[in-house]
Order: sequence, then structure tokens, then C-alpha cells
Amino acid sequence: MEITNDIRYVGVNDHKIDLFESQYAVPHGMAYNSYVIVDEKTAVMDTVDRRFTQEWLDNIEKVLGDRKPDYLIIQHMEPDHSANIKVFMDKYPEATIVSSAVAFNMMKNFYGDNYTDRRIISKEGETLSLGRHILHFVAAPMVHWPEVMITYDETDKVLFSADAFGKFGANDTPDDNWADEARRYYIGIVGKYGEQVQALLAKAGGLDIQIICSTHGPVLKENLGYYIGLTNTWSSYAVEDEGVVICYTSVYGHTREAALLLQKKLQEKGCPAVPIYDLARDDMHKAISEAFRYGRIILATTTYNMGIFPPMETFINNLKERNFQKRKVGIIENGTWAPKAKKIITDMLSDCKDITFCQNNVTLKSAMNAQSDAQLDALADEIMQ
Ligand code: FEO
Repeated sequence: MEITNDIRYVGVNDHKIDLFESQYAVPHGMAYNSYVIVDEKTAVMDTVDRRFTQEWLDNIEKVLGDRKPDYLIIQHMEPDHSANIKVFMDKYPEATIVSSAVAFNMMKNFYGDNYTDRRIISKEGETLSLGRHILHFVAAPMVHWPEVMITYDETDKVLFSADAFGKFGANDTPDDNWADEARRYYIGIVGKYGEQVQALLAKAGGLDIQIICSTHGPVLKENLGYYIGLTNTWSSYAVEDEGVVICYTSVYGHTREAALLLQKKLQEKGCPAVPIYDLARDDMHKAISEAFRYGRIILATTTYNMGIFPPMETFINNLKERNFQKRKVGIIENGTWAPKAKKIITDMLSDCKDITFCQNNVTLKSAMNAQSDAQLDALADEIMQ
């Protein structure tokens, strides 16, 4: 695939993966993107997952023909992008590898070699000339590992953005909605590092970018303000859409009944969106991304072994790991003899920034009754304010 006259796509699509990073469901597969820049010198941008070595090498050969690559530029050392460094460097003994100092340390640990006699250690602000193309290296620590360095081609105005602007899903799978799988990917994988992504966006703001080439997902060529704007929203923990997300667990269905009734009440009050997730059965990472999408969230769960039901505990810990903040939280607790969930959830979220807890929460003592129905009305009124 041609990106520009001199830049070609040589990545691969993965439809066999079960869980990305061994935890994220990817029903539409995954793409590991790699690119070749053809100039007086040739450069390959990143490698791909180790299960696609031959396909990737074949793609490079199809682009270069009899020419050999001069540079392998490694922007990120996570194995979905670095796994084929050794096979590439063995196959092309004249090639030089270009990466950050931290990346070379990781390379030694992952692959047993850091190529001291065949490398260029790139630093923030340095450039590499391929002939017509001048590549600028920009440090992007913690987007999403500390060694990350992204690359700007000033000639074609292309930003090779490593994991930034990536998404779940193979590139040969139709997907009209970039945002949903990009949000689930961003919040899941980079969500903790909003500050660092903001720093990267500030640096990128000074560049004339016409094309974004991420290591995952489609090449972005049009309407770049949309993608940059969403990434800015997510990394600043701002509210993306108006609505209330309800996340619940339910052992025998009574807490679920309360959660569904609250959803109905909120819809009747005109709430623009009320998505609901069963944390034991639905995709936990979709629910996590929705918690960051909307400004208001209801957490409904039972007391369990004097704690809270395990999927809810996991969910809240996942929110905290990703710097959950700036949200309004309502709670529905259920406990047959000693309800404790409200206190436990409040304590768990107490060290998150700018969390507003509703005053009108709901306590079920086993099942819904007239009192809890009235409490749901009060919670619905308050969360809508
Ligand atoms: Fe796609 Fe952080 O690796």
C-alpha cells in the first residue's frame, strides 16, 4: 500500500490472536504496522509481532526489490513491534539500527544484543537524512513505554507516531467507527499516562502533520483534527459525551434489577445515553473505556466476604490504575445482612482527583422494595443534575 510516493505500508493483519497483550479482547483482530521509506537510503519503521516474521520480510522485499534496507528505526520496544529485530539484523548485515538509548538497553535484555557497532542512538531533536527525506526524532516517554521515540518526516509531513493514535482491529476489517475501538485501546493501554500524552500533543502541535502512521490501526490522512481532538480529550480526562454509564455486578439478579430500573428512570428523564455493563459478563475493558467517556457513573454491587463482589473490585482498581478523575459517582449497594459496598467503593475512590460522590445513594437489603425504589428516584434526580 502506498502512503506517499516514497512511503509504503509493510505491516500485517492478525486474525488469529485471542487476547491482545494477553488481556484485551480483539474480535476484529489486530494490525501491526510497519512502513518503508524509499529514498537514496531506505529505512524500515519498526517490525511486527513474531508470528508474522516471514510475511513482514516478504512485504519489505516486495517494496525494495533488489535494494537492501539501510536503516531499521525502532520507535518502541514492546514485542509487538520489536520481535523481529534480530532476524532483520541477521538478514541484512549492512543495516544500521536507529533507536533511543533506553531502547538499546531493552534490546539487550529482550534479544541478547544491542548492536554496539551497527547502531545510531537517537536523541530528542536529532535528525537523520535519507536523501530527500529528513527524519526528526521526538522523545515520547511513557507513550507507552519509557523508551518510546516517534519520528516526523518533514519532507512528506508524516508523523510516525508509535502506539499513539492506534486502535484495536485489523486494517482489512471494515470499521466505520474509529473512536470506539481507539478509545478502548487508548484508555486500556495508555490511559494511565495522560500527562505524557498531553506533552506529546504539545510537541506535535508545532509540526505541520498531513498524515499519521501509527503502529496499530489505519493510516490517518484526513480530518486529523478529529483524531487529535479525541486524543486530547482522553489524555486530559475530560468528558467526551454526555450520559451516565451504569456498571454492575449481581449474584442472583436483584442488583441487576435495580441497575436496569435506574437505567429506565434515567432514560425517561431524557438522559442522552445510559449504557449498562454487567462486569462479570460483558467486556470489562469496554466498560472501563466508557467510564472515561462519560462524566457520570453508577456503580452497583453486592457486599461479598466483607468486601465487594470481585469483578467490581477489579473494575475499580482498573479505573484507579488509569488515573480515573473528574467524574460524578453514584452507588447502589446490596447486602443481605451487612451492606458495606458503599463505604468500600467510596474509600477505594477517595484518592482519585475531583470525584464527586452522590449524596442520594441506594441500599438494597437483598431485593428491591418501595424504599429502594424511592432511593433510585432520588439518585436519578441527583446524577442528572
Ligand atoms: Fe503496540 Fe506498546 O505496543
